[in-house]
Amino acid sequence: MKVLLIGSGGREHALFWKLSQSPLLTRLDVFPGNGGFPSDVIVNEPGLSITDTDRIVSFVKKNRYDFVFVGPEQPLVDGLVDSLELVCPVFGPTYRAAALEGSKAFSKSFMEQYGIPTAKAKTFIDVEQAVAYAKTRSLPVVVKADGLAAGKGVTVAVSHTEAEEAIRDCLERNRFGESGSKVVIEDFLKGVEASVFALCDGERALPFIAAKDHKRAFDGDEGPNTGGMGAFAPVDFMTDDVMERVQNDILDRVIAGMNHRGTPYRGLLYAGLMIDNGIPSVVEFNVRFGDPETQPLLLLLDEDLLELSVQAATGRLPNRKLKFKNGAALTIVLAAEGYPGDYSKNILLKEIDSYRGDAIIFHAGTKRDGEVLVSNGGRILNFTASGETLSMAREKAYAAIQAIRIPQTFYRSDIARSIR
Ligand code: AMP
Ligand code: GLY
Repeated sequence: MKVLLIGSGGREHALFWKLSQSPLLTRLDVFPGNGGFPSDVIVNEPGLSITDTDRIVSFVKKNRYDFVFVGPEQPLVDGLVDSLELVCPVFGPTYRAAALEGSKAFSKSFMEQYGIPTAKAKTFIDVEQAVAYAKTRSLPVVVKADGLAAGKGVTVAVSHTEAEEAIRDCLERNRFGESGSKVVIEDFLKGVEASVFALCDGERALPFIAAKDHKRAFDGDEGPNTGGMGAFAPVDFMTDDVMERVQNDILDRVIAGMNHRGTPYRGLLYAGLMIDNGIPSVVEFNVRFGDPETQPLLLLLDEDLLELSVQAATGRLPNRKLKFKNGAALTIVLAAEGYPGDYSKNILLKEIDSYRGDAIIFHAGTKRDGEVLVSNGGRILNFTASGETLSMAREKAYAAIQAIRIPQTFYRSDIARSIR
């Protein structure tokens, strides 16, 4: 099977690592990729861009790929799958199903219609009505830009003034462009957060074991929100009982609701959850694998991911649970100094290629300048390891990140320790 993987992050490098193990594979290419991929698998087609659907479709046709795996949200929300599906099977939801991530207003009304537990919310396009409504809610109150905003569109406001500012940023000052043309004002959910990913084939949702990421930049869950500074699995408070509720009250209802709307959900469904006293509610849905939770989860998945992905894309997932190895895994993100604000660029990463240890170093924001490996983003590398226990996995990953000292970078020293 000749496969094309689309994306360029740590998630895609981990997906590449796992998909490469499949006996079904004859060739796996990636576009656009990053500095971690062998150069002969990176598609080098002048003018190709992941947001240019027409060119991607003709490229896939011309090169006779048998299967395409779409990693990131933007092309999914833009409807790449709808066009590609006419050429070959594709992993990922169609345009209308991907609106679960592409529009928080849609996602909230979908959850309300199909009885999926989530915080009470209202959507507004008018500033004054939004501000007036926010003032009636108790604090903290959560203000969200409707569309994709690279993790920056959410404000957990601790005062009504802060909520008003967040509303005006979206609706008046166009801080998020088109993504902020509507705002969702949501009640605050208390509890502990976890992520559950499920492979979906339109008829069923097969969950991964739960994972948890660390969203804040600094130790002790301090500092600004980021795309994720590390992640681990499994998560002890995600018991069988909680997972059964996730299956029945959330995943199965998404599958049923999407079918009822005539837009079957295929691909990966990411449920960002808040668990309060064993009861899960949805904080958000994403329509792709999470980054960096994917990295530890794929170390534990005891299955052929390519086979499962094709089954998900073609409505043929098996009627059984997914298999996972015993033990635990985690990943530590090495980030550029200053991230998630303005950060150092083009940091030299010369020690990475010669690393030969127990951890796996997935590349996220890296590129090759000729032979030289340099950083190319805020989140640079993911030091990932598994072990019999979480603390054994943690020891391996920290041994690797501590052995390779890279100036102008930082990482959290409490991954899988500080849990909020
Ligand atoms: P989101 O992009 O929707 O995942 O939001 C980013 C982060 O904001 C989440 O991971 C939560 O930590 C927090 N958050 C979002 N919505 C809520 C909510 N309704 N209650 C509490 N925290 C929230
Ligand atoms: N880890 C959070 C995300 O992928 O959205």
